[in-house]
Amino acid sequence: MEQTWDTVDRYLTDAVVRPEPGYLAVQRAADLAGLPPIQVSAPQGKLLHLLARMVGARRVLEVGTLAGYSTIWLARALPDDGRVVSLEIDPRHADVARANCAAMNVGQLVDIRVGAAVDSLSRLAFDNVPAFDLVFIDADKASIPEYVEWSLQLSHPGTVIVVDNVIRGGAVTDADSEDPSVVGVRRFNEMLAQDERLDATTIQTVGSKGYDGLTLALVR
Ligand code: SAH
Ligand code: DHB
Ligand code: MG
Repeated sequence: MEQTWDTVDRYLTDAVVRPEPGYLAVQRAADLAGLPPIQVSAPQGKLLHLLARMVGARRVLEVGTLAGYSTIWLARALPDDGRVVSLEIDPRHADVARANCAAMNVGQLVDIRVGAAVDSLSRLAFDNVPAFDLVFIDADKASIPEYVEWSLQLSHPGTVIVVDNVIRGGAVTDADSEDPSVVGVRRFNEMLAQDERLDATTIQTVGSKGYDGLTLALVR
């Protein structure tokens, strides 16, 4: 099945998503730099892009930059005075991402901050930055609940929060799992069940990234 999912994703990328050629160069630069090939797929990148346009986003927060592939899909949805603040712990990843953003002409829209995301998030809150309209959480899965909590501090009613990789091949249903990613996602789901501040749904996905899924949440 994985082979079919990949073939269909490639078909959909050509037939429906129709990314500009520059996105391929961004992926190639990431591969060349030896970064892990774990960026969102082109259809997922386009989903983020369309969501940002649908909510009229001007300010986007991303947790987990890697090579900037998702960053660029998001930045290209913004007006000229928009901003993506993207948080990345690995300075090598940040360097590749900055070069990719420049190559895709969104350098002036993207602010990549190197450091552990919780530190950067607490700094953003301390600095009282204007609220973000859309948040994409895609770093280490163990800390998803903390990233969501900080995102809420940095949100306004109507902010959309997207969380990647919340199914992980179905492992998420294993209550006894000691995998930190699974524990993180399950803690996040417990938080969603109790939290009055968020309305959410989770969609399972298949595609070039295997069997996984994403959560879409709306801040009340
Ligand atoms: N959003 C990217 C993929 C991100 S991969 C895309 O779709 O194109 C996850 C990234 O999160 C990696 O670059 C990893 O270095 C970073 N990361 C992992 N732990 C982190 C942490 N604690 N703080 C900030 N970034 C982290
Ligand atoms: C991994 C991380 C991701 O964000 C992703 O979309 C897929 C895989 C990982 O760390 O393996
Ligand atoms: Mg991901």
